Amino acid sequence: MTGARTRSARELWGGHFASDPAPLMERINASVGFDKRLWAEDIRGSIAHARMLAARGVITEADRDAIVRGLEEIAREIEEGRFVFDPALEDVHLNIEARLIERIGEPGRRLHTARSRNDQVATDLRLWVKAACARVDASLRELQRVLLDRAEEHAATVMPGFTHLQAAQPVTLGHHLLAYVEMFGRDRSRFSDAHARMDECPLGAAALAGTSFPVDREATARELGFARPMANSIDAVSDRDFVLDYLAAAAICAVHLSRLAEELVLWSTPQFGFVRLPETFTSGSSIMPQKRNPDAAELVRGKSGRVIGHLVALLVVLKGLPLAYSKDMQEDKEGLFDAADTLELCAAVAAAMLAEARFDPARMRAAAELGHPTATDLADWLVRVKGVPFREAHGIAARAVRRAEELGCALEELPDRELLALDARIDARVREVLGVERSVASRTSSGGTAPVRVREAIAAARRRFLGEAQPAIEAGG
Ligand code: ARG
Repeated sequence: MTGARTRSARELWGGHFASDPAPLMERINASVGFDKRLWAEDIRGSIAHARMLAARGVITEADRDAIVRGLEEIAREIEEGRFVFDPALEDVHLNIEARLIERIGEPGRRLHTARSRNDQVATDLRLWVKAACARVDASLRELQRVLLDRAEEHAATVMPGFTHLQAAQPVTLGHHLLAYVEMFGRDRSRFSDAHARMDECPLGAAALAGTSFPVDREATARELGFARPMANSIDAVSDRDFVLDYLAAAAICAVHLSRLAEELVLWSTPQFGFVRLPETFTSGSSIMPQKRNPDAAELVRGKSGRVIGHLVALLVVLKGLPLAYSKDMQEDKEGLFDAADTLELCAAVAAAMLAEARFDPARMRAAAELGHPTATDLADWLVRVKGVPFREAHGIAARAVRRAEELGCALEELPDRELLALDARIDARVREVLGVERSVASRTSSGGTAPVRVREAIAAARRRFLGEAQPAIEAGG
């Protein structure tokens, strides 16, 4: 008892249409080329719906069994690459439904009872984005793990800290890397917030108004792993803010990845020479034999542009839409899929590059000495040891910098008589605070760069971000 092959979407819904769609209509309308990525979610959603319909006596148990078996076979066809997605059938939902009818006939025609593609696609997409949140959480956690390992190795490695990209004060590389651990930690919490907010099931909203059939929305929500059904049927089919939530978190995260990548690009130049990127993530030049280009880091930086673009694009698509569903909303998917693919790739590349990067502590330390970065330490010493008001001490230190520049030496190399000439309160003991190691070791305030604090911060970050206690997003939920 199988059904006839459905040749176009109009056979499923077009009883009152006299002619076929224009070829151009098919081109602009069909989404199956990209929304076939939702096939597993679509089948899951349909199985849950059919079980609920049978439990409520809307379809028979025999129909339910035929539908579930048919959908499971279709899942196998798709997995094994035997399923032909047909653009004449518009989207993934109609492709699967048409194939079900073709395979099992009559019961297949009952599946769409008490449902619309509007609540169907909203449900499928929420399931997909929830899983994407869980995937990116795992990628970012791995990136944090790599950053923490490298930070531990370099908890006491001195490098210049910059503001305005000018040497500011010496810091440790470990401390600098921990800054990114915090950023990616906040990114993870943004995805986790988004996940919690989107954890409501649209199914049962039908086209927009709800349905006259005695559906059990609690049951389908539960079976699909949602916390609860969405409260309002119009909202359920109109809203795509869960995609915006994902894209907003993705855009911010892409910006963090881009800043990290930019530092790797800068630091790997011969002029900086702070890091040597793994050969496997760089390329040479066809005309300049000396070159080693940081392509992967540049692409992590560059690809942030498309992720940001996808957020802006969907905001613009949605901003003028009246409630409830409009076909404009089909434009939510390509950008989302590309953003998710891009972000996961970039996070993985950043982790792999960092894991293998060779930092050069000698180069970093030498750079940390340039630009008189311990001038603040001189001022602080005058305040602490001699009771000089900070503003006055700042002026004395500034004059010391000018003198060192005139003599072409580092602050700590200024002869005693030069120091004394600057201010009579200065004595030779000041030299102790002018070295970069001492400077770094003295910054023991909580959250500061002293190696003791950095080691504590690494241990705390491991507990906060990698420990069991971390409220991870349930995968697949
Ligand atoms: N492919 C459509 C989309 O992604 C599915 C919903 C279609 N609904 C409709 N009423 N035509 O938005």
